[in-house]
Amino acid sequence: MAQDAPSAATGAGAGQPGANPFRPGFGVSPRVLAGRDELLEEFDTALDEGPGSPLRSVLVSGARGMGKTVILNELEEAARVRGWLVVRLPESGDLVEELASTTLPALLAEHDSERAVRRRVTGAGIAGVGSLSTTARERYEVRETAATLLARLLDVLAGHGTGLLFTLDELQAVDREAVSAFASLYQHLVRDERDVALAAAGLPVGVGQLLQHRGTTFLRRAERVQLGPLRTEEVTDAARRTVEGAGGVIAEDALDVLADVVHGYPYLLQLAGYRAWRDAAGGPITADHVRATRGVVSERMGRLVHGPALLDLPQAQRAYLMAMAQDDGASSTGEVAARLGLTAQHANVFRTRLIERELIAPAGHGRVDYSLPYLRDHLRRQAATG
Ligand SMILES: Nc1ncnc2c1ncn2[C@@H]1O[C@H](COP(=O)(O)OP(=O)(O)O)[C@@H](O)[C@H]1O
Ligand SMILES: [Mg+2]
Repeated sequence: MAQDAPSAATGAGAGQPGANPFRPGFGVSPRVLAGRDELLEEFDTALDEGPGSPLRSVLVSGARGMGKTVILNELEEAARVRGWLVVRLPESGDLVEELASTTLPALLAEHDSERAVRRRVTGAGIAGVGSLSTTARERYEVRETAATLLARLLDVLAGHGTGLLFTLDELQAVDREAVSAFASLYQHLVRDERDVALAAAGLPVGVGQLLQHRGTTFLRRAERVQLGPLRTEEVTDAARRTVEGAGGVIAEDALDVLADVVHGYPYLLQLAGYRAWRDAAGGPITADHVRATRGVVSERMGRLVHGPALLDLPQAQRAYLMAMAQDDGASSTGEVAARLGLTAQHANVFRTRLIERELIAPAGHGRVDYSLPYLRDHLRRQAATG
């Protein structure tokens, strides 16, 4: 995506600094995607391989800000470039009912040329679904089941050699019954070897719990992808390309500091990059500009990521996390148990739960450490303010 270099590189007083190319917001795709190539390549292959490829059903889990929504956007794009249709399942309400009453009739009205109205709808596509629904409803009786409508739509798509990708974000918050009804619908399509794919994303604990539910057995067989931190080179490479793509300059040592501040965390790459770009005010971004972002990075991470993640945390697990915050690095599990006045066995229960929640991780024999950057800072701030 080539862009005209903004006139900013000349520094303060030389008119408008270029528009900031970093995007520190949840659900906002970055200008330059860091890493994640393996997952995207696998999905591409799965789409090309045809029905039956196990990688066509992907379940992505990861902490807030790890890039789940961005990945779903990328997977949607991969499907679209192949001419596939994409249906974003709603995060609330009855998924199957919504498909049957609105989404599928609208898609059929648009794509089923045998029956479709000879009317081109402006801005059609998924975004146009709302406005299409009235017309579509008149022509397709609402009571046709989602399964029938899907079969028809997939027949039409098969005629073009394409298929249908369903995406579902914030899976942990979706009603279980709704997920299981959808899972059963989807499972039948897979068994019938239809050209369908599914990409869902959610927070680790919520997704884990959802998969315990009987109706979602099928989803357990989906490819589980745990989005982890980006590698250092992925961070520095994406940061450099983001800056340079917008006509800016970033020093080598500034990139090293950035990698340090970011800890492989995608949201922080955008946040630290954004602040450093802004502070550089059109000049080259230096290591000092990046270093100066640390305070904001830590504070935002606490407020937007750790705060929400700890909200529903049982008191005993919170106490365990707090006890770890006394250490500057990895904690000895024995010492943490002692601080809490618990037996090793008892403390181990909380340790295990926290590992499942991906809040802490084993760090060598008998040691654990936080798995998210700046969690220690956040907990210490909380301890200080009561
Ligand atoms: N692979 C990536 N490379 C660069 N930035 C990313 C990447 N993935 C996510 N981001 C950025 O991180 C932030 C959070 O991404 P998002 O997908 O909303 O996270 P999640 O859905 O896991 O909470 C956004 O600002 C987004 O632009
Ligand atoms: Mg998200």
